[in-house]
Amino acid sequence: MPATDFDNVFVIDHPLLQHKLSFVRSADTTTDNFRRLVREIAQMMAYEITRDLPTEKVPVTTPLTTFDSPVISGKKLCLASILRAGTGMLDGMIDLLPGARVAHIGLYRDPETLEAVEYYFKVPEDIQDRTVIVLDPMLATGHSAIAAIDRLKEVGVTSLKLACLIAAPEGVTNLRAAHPDVPLWLAALDSHLNDHGYIVPGLGDAGDRIFGTK
Ligand code: URA
Repeated sequence: MPATDFDNVFVIDHPLLQHKLSFVRSADTTTDNFRRLVREIAQMMAYEITRDLPTEKVPVTTPLTTFDSPVISGKKLCLASILRAGTGMLDGMIDLLPGARVAHIGLYRDPETLEAVEYYFKVPEDIQDRTVIVLDPMLATGHSAIAAIDRLKEVGVTSLKLACLIAAPEGVTNLRAAHPDVPLWLAALDSHLNDHGYIVPGLGDAGDRIFGTK
């Protein structure tokens, strides 16, 4: 997996994923295709992000014999969707991780300060015993992801990963400073943020494009 110039930041450069991301970026892509493509990209990201999950061998009886075969062990998973755009990645992740619990964290971006303001926080009771994969499609300033991770750490979570479709270097720098321990998985690391806080070249407003609200 290609690392980047940033510590603990990985771009998943699989050709299938990159092909789909190009169509997600296109302004001509319809809402239904956008949703489907984000779901498919999230599936591929789930596959890579969970590559380091520990396994243990358990006896399995095939039609021919019994032998020791690997199954996932260790901490159970929780997917934490940062509302509302994180929901777009949730279904694809659940396709591959059907037993994962789901947390919802509601944050909106103050249009003046671009700071994250929390309005909802609902997580599984045993979240501190789980590895939490935080879902936030667009890491712009990083304020929302940083605030979500702050809150998850406050309630005792110690094992965290962050999955974003696209990040701006500004957001990655902020995230690395705030939470150097949390690995970041991306489909792309883009050029910069514009004056309105949008990632360039980006894909526009992920929430609007997932939900067709524009
Ligand atoms: N949020 C988005 O949806 N898009 C951006 O480019 C930045 C933040």
